[in-house]
Amino acid sequence: MSRGRFITLEGIDGAGKSSHVEFVRGLVAAKGHEAIVTREPGATPFGQKLREVILHQSTSALAEALVMFADRAAHVESEIEPALATGTWVICDRFSDSTYAYQCGGRGLDRDVVIQLEAIAHPGLQPDVTFLFDIDPATASARQQRRNQAADGFETRGLDYFIRVRNAYLERQREHAGRIRVVDASGDFETVRGNLERHFREAFA
Ligand code: TYD
Repeated sequence: MSRGRFITLEGIDGAGKSSHVEFVRGLVAAKGHEAIVTREPGATPFGQKLREVILHQSTSALAEALVMFADRAAHVESEIEPALATGTWVICDRFSDSTYAYQCGGRGLDRDVVIQLEAIAHPGLQPDVTFLFDIDPATASARQQRRNQAADGFETRGLDYFIRVRNAYLERQREHAGRIRVVDASGDFETVRGNLERHFREAFA
């Protein structure tokens, strides 16, 4: 049996990636593969507890990154690796690129810390393909305001923070250009879905 493929979705808050997760599962199913959909932080019972703490309690960027990687280590061990090993594809909403973008880009943590933590928490494992939903933070903020989701994101952390997060994502993409595909997420829902589908077909031709 061949190993499953590991797909991740990334992007700043308000980029809309989460609304396309099930669509990706459908594209994988159309290729004849089973897939699980999962997310970070908080996919495991242990991670759910960490998520409650980390999303509601501020701490240093390093402490935040360490908690994200504790969540990730448990997730990889109990969900991601077992699925991949049995041929199931894994579609994960956020993974280590998020820590790079948010804790390094957004909060100034040394990028080498994330690279070291990746080597410890998921040695030898990287996504096969990452879809980076890219959008101007001002547009994403306006979107979230329309959905009344602004309070915990843009209002508290500010636009400059999200500009830094986006730039870190794009920097990471340049370093991993073969893996990370930039999906233009600025258009309407159907347009973004079309962009995603085109990237999926190219990636898994
Ligand atoms: P969540 O409610 O899951 O939002 P989203 O739908 O945007 O994924 O919140 C996750 C938040 O945690 C989001 O603001 C990104 C942040 N985050 C980090 O800062 N570092 C990380 O490593 C991860 C996985 C998420």
